[in-house]
Amino acid sequence: MQIKSADFVQSATKNSQLPTDNRNEFLFCGRSNVGKSSFINMLVNRKSLARTSQKPGKTQTLNVYSVNTNIYFIDVPGYGYASVSKTMRASFGEMIEEYVVNRKELRRAFLLVDFRHEPTNDDCLMYEFLKYHNILVTVIATKCDKVKRSQIQKNTKIIKEKLKLTAEDNLIVTSAEERLGFEAVLDVIENSIQE
Ligand code: GTP
Ligand code: MG
Repeated sequence: MQIKSADFVQSATKNSQLPTDNRNEFLFCGRSNVGKSSFINMLVNRKSLARTSQKPGKTQTLNVYSVNTNIYFIDVPGYGYASVSKTMRASFGEMIEEYVVNRKELRRAFLLVDFRHEPTNDDCLMYEFLKYHNILVTVIATKCDKVKRSQIQKNTKIIKEKLKLTAEDNLIVTSAEERLGFEAVLDVIENSIQE
């Protein structure tokens, strides 16, 4: 698949505010600071379409990006960021839950995990939540530029085991810093649309 255009459309805090033209949607979710926004930028080959930050908690709404003429990417707030207030964390949770449970346009979720570390309990909960709602999941390991070549197999195994990935779930190792792994993700998107 080729990205011909990518544009920010809108922010939303509930499903009723989302686009109504029935395009296929892809969700990008994961821990705060894991690299969701950076990953989207790499995928669409734009430096700063999605806002990134050194400080966790940058993304606070569902952000909708139009890709080509038939797709939306949905960038959501990260979980697991302790300094965000409890009320705010609860409303993020509700927002994402409503989206995952009720959004018919959602074709597949990309769950981003940090390739350097064992998935957190929140990562496991997110994965289980998506699977429980019968959402197809592709796990994306981010920041592989920070991992030594000799550790790649070991870390891949740890992620697969901790999340209890099944054979049909794919795991793609990526780096936004070094532009690695995005072609495989574009292939997944293309295949999901044709299914
Ligand atoms: P929230 O919106 O706060 O949930 O964060 P996010 O998941 O969107 O993360 P973001 O893309 O803002 O990236 C967080 C930090 O990680 C930034 O400092 C990025 O530069 C850095 N980062 C993202 N991807 C990579 C990567 O592949 N390699 C390296 N080394 N750093 C990365
Ligand atoms: Mg972000």
